[in-house]
Amino acid sequence: MKRSFGSVYLRFNLSHLIFWMVSILVISIFIGYALYSTSFWQTQNHLNTLADIASQLLPSDLLDYQHNAGNTELLAAHMDLVFANEPNLQWVIFSPQGDLIISSYQNTSIDTSPIFDPEFEEALTSSSGKSQKTSQNAESQTTLYQSIRIEKDGQVLGILRLAYSLYSPLQAARTSIILFFILVGSISIVVGSLSLITARNLTIPIDAITQMADQIAHGDLEARVEISKKSPEMAYLGQAFNQMAERLKVQVTELRSFVANASHELRTPLTVIKLRIEALRTGAMDEPEVANRFLAEVESEVDRLSRMVGDMLDLSRIEAGLTASQRTLVDMAGIFQDVKDTMKVRAERAGLELICHVQQGLLPVIGVEDQLRRMVYNLIDNAIKYTSRGGKVELNLCASLDPDKILLSIKDTGFGITPEQLPHIFERFFRVEATRPRYGPPQGSGLGLSIAKSIVEIHGGKIWANSAVGKGTTFFIELPVIKE
Ligand SMILES: Nc1ncnc2c1ncn2[C@@H]1O[C@H](COP(=O)(O)OP(=O)(O)OP(=O)(O)O)[C@@H](O)[C@H]1O
Ligand SMILES: [Mg+2]
Repeated sequence: MKRSFGSVYLRFNLSHLIFWMVSILVISIFIGYALYSTSFWQTQNHLNTLADIASQLLPSDLLDYQHNAGNTELLAAHMDLVFANEPNLQWVIFSPQGDLIISSYQNTSIDTSPIFDPEFEEALTSSSGKSQKTSQNAESQTTLYQSIRIEKDGQVLGILRLAYSLYSPLQAARTSIILFFILVGSISIVVGSLSLITARNLTIPIDAITQMADQIAHGDLEARVEISKKSPEMAYLGQAFNQMAERLKVQVTELRSFVANASHELRTPLTVIKLRIEALRTGAMDEPEVANRFLAEVESEVDRLSRMVGDMLDLSRIEAGLTASQRTLVDMAGIFQDVKDTMKVRAERAGLELICHVQQGLLPVIGVEDQLRRMVYNLIDNAIKYTSRGGKVELNLCASLDPDKILLSIKDTGFGITPEQLPHIFERFFRVEATRPRYGPPQGSGLGLSIAKSIVEIHGGKIWANSAVGKGTTFFIELPVIKE
């Protein structure tokens, strides 16, 4: 897979890398500074101590030097002894007038002149009798200078100036910093590689999911992701993706079967209409009785077609869900009574007894009144349609065992439904008549129960049916109520 600059993989690695680089830089600067200043400070202290020691020892030597008329041998021997273990140290002793008495420098023309030396003046005149400074030569090597006044009983005998090259002590600090860089660099390489591996592991499942999503987008509904065992989050993502793909497949399959069924259902009346029109054109028109019958058939098929199209539209609208503004408090008892009153005449005409039991004081349901009325209507319509003359249809509305729900039942003493067909009655376009010709020609489109089921489900309820062939069928609906 091609990785763009914005990819998770690159972003993950880059952010790690930048974080590391900045951290290392900050830590290095801090540690480098700490090491540098520690060695500087230690050298300064050391030089100070050496100057103090020398200032204790030198007065008698300088007095000897004065008495021995400028003989520096003893002085030199003493100084070599005092600074024997100091290879980085150079020293010069000046007279109080600034004349060179003795120095450790091989070439006395260099660095042995106090003329432009402000610390010589400072050591000579200040109360502490000390002065310190640092200077850098052309090769950027730093030297620390310490001057100290040598005196005895208030008499100034000379000025000792020590020069300590910081090159070696700072070189140690520099070596430590370089070692630190090497160490941290190695750790960075290890951490960077680990981060690369981690990022790779993280992005492999994402890449796989992207690939599968692409496959699905191109119509392969069977594409599924292999569940990653490396991380639970990725496994969960993979599972969720597969569930989504499965659901999509089911929905697409349902949609395809709906379109196929709907086309099939629409084709039958259209064929009848076309045949009748052809018959009328090829002579039936001349026989008024036959022509009237054919026209009545055409009219009834057109009615059936328009009912079916209306039902399909309603079904798709219902399945689109409810908006909050559509919902109101609905009194199911009122709906039961209304639909019963509407259906009374039809039931009487069909020679059926229509009874209604409604428990008083039930809580209302929240939903769309027209849809709930349509659901009750469809069920009573079926009960009347599929019950023989002399039968009974009983409506019942009461509290459910669950106190947050109410239970509706529509019971008939009709034909009943076989156990094999019962699980299918809520499917779209399913009609028992198609397999049981004794019921006569199809009366409906087979959408009534799917519409009822969709309505119940979007109201958060449940619908089911019990049936026994020859004895009758009972439909149950459980709907959640709103507690005021
Ligand atoms: N109370 C019932 N008794 C016996 N069979 C029933 C009953 N209710 C439904 N059925 C069977 O279930 C099938 C599906 O019912 P549904 O209401 O979905 O369609 P329909 O009544 O055939 O057509 P429509 O309701 O769209 O006019 C019916 O065709 C019928 O055979
Ligand atoms: Mg029906």
